[in-house]
Formats: sequence, structure tokens, C-alpha cells
Amino acid sequence: MQIFFIMILFFMYVCEKKMKIIHHITTLQDELSQVRLNGIIGFVPTMGALHQGHLALVQRAFNECHTVVVSIFVNPTQFNNRDDFDKYPRHYEEDIKKLEESGWCNLVFLPSVEEMYPTPDTRHFELGYLENIMEGKFRHGHFQGVAKVVSKFFDIIQPDKAYFGKKDFQQLAVIKKLIELLNYHIEIVPCEIVREPSGLAMSSRNQRLSNEDFNHAQVIYQALTQIPTWLNQYSIDEIKKRVIQFIQQTKPFMVEYIELVDSATLLPVVDIASHKSITCCIAVYCHDIRLIDNLEIEHL
Ligand code: PAJ
Repeated sequence: MQIFFIMILFFMYVCEKKMKIIHHITTLQDELSQVRLNGIIGFVPTMGALHQGHLALVQRAFNECHTVVVSIFVNPTQFNNRDDFDKYPRHYEEDIKKLEESGWCNLVFLPSVEEMYPTPDTRHFELGYLENIMEGKFRHGHFQGVAKVVSKFFDIIQPDKAYFGKKDFQQLAVIKKLIELLNYHIEIVPCEIVREPSGLAMSSRNQRLSNEDFNHAQVIYQALTQIPTWLNQYSIDEIKKRVIQFIQQTKPFMVEYIELVDSATLLPVVDIASHKSITCCIAVYCHDIRLIDNLEIEHL
């Protein structure tokens, strides 16, 4: 009788620990209502095709929270290019396996487009100049789409903490702005960029590179890491020219933009000496594959 009771307890424990895959908002909210009082809920939004960069966010959430929710949703409203949306890698089964094997995730939320957008979301967020610089300038409407989907997730999940990578440096600033605009009581946790041994920032889009281009793509990080030494020698314009020249020596890489911005405000740097920390942000095309990266230079 006692053994039977212990087995039931063990079974209940295993069931609670087992990662659940959820497709519907109401089911997710039911699950969350059962754990909300137990402790902190951590949320990691992703578009899937998971790599070590994503998993580092999930691990951090696991270390800091009682329950970890990971969303996998290729959000159509943040793609300004239909082709990029269609070609975005989707490997849901592999993603689930990676999360399951990690042991760091409790709930995976995998909604359909209809579940997230039963009707078109016509909200407009006052993101200010963040929408007109760098990613905002070159990907019209992108951050409106990010703000829409992230605010929907925040409303559905109501996490205590949400984890975002510094790899998407400007996105992080947009999320902080969103928190302020909608008065969310959610702690945003910025996480360091995870890189390949070559220095290339990990990205789901890297999966679309040929082996040769993948190897050559390290030129982006190599160029960024030259900037700290160039800062003492050249003007901002000259530095930008040198970065472009350095990268475009390797075919077929083409720089879309390179900006040196204040790490806190994201406004362009004019006078280096007047900033505590500068972030160099870059977007580079390899054929139709768009890669972004950045490097923060502190203690100038
Ligand atoms: P996605 O590109 O899948 O990235 C999900 C999260 O992982 C983001 O916070 C991103 O900054 C982080 N990330 C990606 N590569 C990383 C790396 N190499 N090192 C550290 N963190 C990394 O960003 C999005 O999805 C979407 O815009 C999303 C926020 C999910 C909204 O749709």
C-alpha cells in the first residue's frame, strides 16, 4: 500500500516535471494558473530553429525561475519581406527535442498564426526614433510587428521575467520601450551574445548559409573587433568605410549599414569622447540572407 502511494507521488512528480507542448492560449493560461503561485514565471520568446544562443536564454531562465515558458512562433507581422518569411527555417520537432533534452523548459507554446492573430492587429506603438534608425530604417514596420507579438505574449503569459538576447540589440531597446509604453511589470533580462568558435554570432539564419559562406561569415566579427583600435586613430566616417572595405573584400558579403551608437540611447556617435559606452551595429547580406551583429565597446 505504501509503495503504491510512493509510486503515485513519483508519477505525479514526473508528470509535473515533463515538458508540455501547448498550441492554444486557453490551455497555456490554465497551466500557468496552476503554477503562478509557486514562484517566478520566466518567458523566452523565439521564432524557433533553436541554437545555443536561444538555449543560453532558456538556461538562464531555468536558473532564475520556477517555471520556464518558451514560445516558438514565426511571427508574420515582423517580416517586411515575404520571401524572408517563407524561407525562415522551421524545425519544430528538432526544437522540441532540444528543449526536452535540455531539461530547462516546462512549457513550450507553439501557437498557429490564427491563434495569435484571429483578427488583424491594427495597434500602433509609439516607438519614436527607434523605428527610424538602423533595423527600423531598413526593415519598415519590423519593430511594430515585434511589439505586437511580444505584447500579445506578455498579455497571455504575464511572466515575471522575460529573456532577450543582446544579439538583437535594437530589439532589446524596443522591448524596454514597450514595457514603458504599456506599463508592464515584467523584468527584462538582457543576455550576452553566443558566438560560434569563429566569432560569428549564432543565428537561425546561419542555417541558410552554404558551408563556404558560413566559414567566410566570420569576417563580420573580425571587422567589428578591429573597431576599438581604430577608434583612437580615425574619424567615425573613416571607421565605417574601413569596416565596409574589410567585409566586402570577402565575396559575396555586402554591408547594408554600419553604425556606431551610444549604447544607452542608440543615437549615432558624433564625438567619441562624450560617450561612456559605444555599440557598433551592423547588417550584412550574403546573397539574400541578412545577418546582424553588434559589439559593445565600454570604458572609452
Ligand atoms: P529569434 O531571432 O528566434 O530570437 C529569440 C531570442 O534569442 C531573441 O531575444 C534573440 O536576441 C536571442 N538570440 C538569438 N541569437 C542569439 C545569440 N547568438 N546569442 C544570444 N541571444 C540570441 O528575436 C526574435 O526571435 C523575435 O523577434 C521575437 C522576439 C521572438 C519576436 O517574434
